Amino acid sequence: MMSKSSVGKITYLFPVFCLLLIISGSYSFGNSREVISLDPVTEGQAKDTSDKNLSDTTRVQAKSTPAQTVSDSVLYKNRIFKSEELIRGERLFYGLAYPKGEAINCATCHNTVVSDTINWNPDALEISKKYLGKNARDLSKVLLKPVGQKMMQVHKNFHLIPEDIVLIKAYMDKFVDIGLKPEKPVITNLVLFIIAAILLLFSITDLIITKKLEKRWIHFIILPVTGAFITYMLVINALSIGRSKDYSPVQPIKFSHAVHAGQNQTECIYCHSSAPYSKIAGIPPENVCMNCHLMVRNGTRSGAFEISKIIYSYENQKPIEWIKIHNLPDHVFFSHAQHVSAAGLDCKECHGDVKKMDIVKQVSDLSMGWCIDCHRTRKLNVQSNQFYSQYRELAEKVKKGQIDSITEAMMGGKECGKCHY
Ligand code: HEC
Ligand code: HEC
Ligand code: HEC
Ligand code: HEC
Ligand code: HEC
Ligand code: HEC
Repeated sequence: MMSKSSVGKITYLFPVFCLLLIISGSYSFGNSREVISLDPVTEGQAKDTSDKNLSDTTRVQAKSTPAQTVSDSVLYKNRIFKSEELIRGERLFYGLAYPKGEAINCATCHNTVVSDTINWNPDALEISKKYLGKNARDLSKVLLKPVGQKMMQVHKNFHLIPEDIVLIKAYMDKFVDIGLKPEKPVITNLVLFIIAAILLLFSITDLIITKKLEKRWIHFIILPVTGAFITYMLVINALSIGRSKDYSPVQPIKFSHAVHAGQNQTECIYCHSSAPYSKIAGIPPENVCMNCHLMVRNGTRSGAFEISKIIYSYENQKPIEWIKIHNLPDHVFFSHAQHVSAAGLDCKECHGDVKKMDIVKQVSDLSMGWCIDCHRTRKLNVQSNQFYSQYRELAEKVKKGQIDSITEAMMGGKECGKCHY
């Protein structure tokens, strides 16, 4: 840490220093970094935001010579960037422009590729959008003079010269149009399907027309195997049209059930309050979040970034646009109250162990077979549940040993009208 007086000295020396540099013509971006990191403005900002340093900073600016303004005023200027500059901006963002050890790869934290696991840092698109309306000066503050607990941890010891920050900003502005790259495609079932289809076709043509393959028995392996595979894929795909098991879209806020329902042990009903007495379970509005987030403004994992979105949407009355994950077709009637209160089922039975999920995923396929399977096999707890008093007759039969248990199916759980409008 530099003492106050030494900062003061350099403060006066600095303009002279800069002038010398410019005159000697060695003011090139690549090799002037060590020099620039002596910049009292930058130093003071990066290390300490206390008042005494700020007043130093102001003094520097007040007395600044043209040279001082050169390095700083680039942050304000609106200009059009050449494509080489944008490329350098990109290289800076990916930590490729500086030597190893000094480089910061923003993309290690700020994802530029779509991710299906939670990355608590805001992704590159989000930060770029947030800063689209701001200027390079704002970016330089958050990089060199971070405030907030998390921000001070993650944006630490960044030494970037103003010109480079301008170029990073230019690249970030461009990134808003580029967007996140899709995940690397894996070999999908579609590829296997196509390979199987080609093999099948080859086998059939060779068997009937070309007859080139001598070991003809090979055909009798290829044909049934590929045939079975293709039929299987067709049936599976035809059945699952409109279904979306494993669906887990990227939500507008990195809300984690593992943090809330797991770690903090908040009851599901606290947020999904209508589940016990209504058809829908409901997604909590912002004011429910604000019950806690009026106080909790910083998350251990995500810092202030995600929680500030709740506050923004609450204060501006712009509801968070959560993407609905579970979707039954319109012709199906399903009620949470019936299952949660009457049947006394745990949320887990249908939604899996949500407590452990950072990102909610649909674990059941919500097919008709899934509903009916449970209605057929689930033994109802008739004795202890008031709701079943009307089914005394069945209950008596259980007592007399005529049947060993009651399932929902016996009560009409397989009747079409119960589930279909
Ligand atoms: C602090 C509030 C909160 C708590 C507690 C909570 N949830 Fe949620 N839940 C949400 C929010 C917000 C969403 C929408 C965002 C998302 O999908 O992650 C959601 C979404 C869901 C979804 C997906 C809904 C859809 O779109 O189809 C399910 C299922 C769910 N929660 C189940 C549970 C279960 C089970 C528990 C208890 C273990 C629980 N939740 C506890 C707030 C909460
Ligand atoms: C019952 C209190 C409570 C409610 C209600 C609540 N939260 Fe939280 N939330 C917390 C606490 C406590 C933390 C801090 C967890 C930590 O940092 O370990 C937190 C952390 C977070 C984080 C940051 C996680 C991290 O570690 O960085 C996000 C994002 C968040 N909440 C979103 C929401 C949203 C969206 C809602 C409303 C749907 C909501 N919360 C409702 C208590 C609550
Ligand atoms: C070690 C991980 C890490 C690295 C490396 C990193 N960031 Fe960040 N950045 C974060 C986190 C975490 C936040 C959110 C912190 C918060 O809001 O409390 C953030 C926030 C931001 C924000 C949003 C600030 C705001 O006002 O909300 C911008 C812009 C940003 N980073 C730019 C960059 C750039 C440019 C680089 C590369 C020079 C970079 N970051 C490198 C982790 C990182
Ligand atoms: C019998 C199975 C079952 C049980 C038990 C169940 N759910 Fe659901 N849940 C569903 C189905 C099916 C949907 C889709 C409903 C639709 O699309 O109309 C759904 C949708 C949801 C949704 C999103 C849409 C909505 O209705 O608001 C949330 C949130 C949810 N469930 C939370 C819960 C919670 C919390 C519990 C426990 C208190 C619970 N569920 C218990 C089957 C179940
Ligand atoms: C994990 C088991 C389970 C699953 C899965 C399940 N249910 Fe149920 N369902 C029950 C039980 C138990 C009852 C009996 C509750 C009661 O007594 O009303 C019930 C009752 C019902 C009823 C009321 C029937 C009546 O007698 O009035 C309807 C309608 C219904 N379920 C629809 C559905 C639909 C639609 C699905 C699939 C999307 C579904 N259920 C999935 C267990 C399940
Ligand atoms: C326990 C609830 C339940 C009962 C009882 C039920 N269905 Fe369904 N049915 C569903 C659900 C849920 C779907 C949606 C399945 C999907 O999207 O894959 C569905 C879908 C359908 C479809 C659309 C085709 C499809 O697979 O998507 C038809 C047709 C249908 N049901 C007919 C019937 C008939 C006829 C009966 C009476 C014999 C019946 N259902 C009883 C829950 C039920």
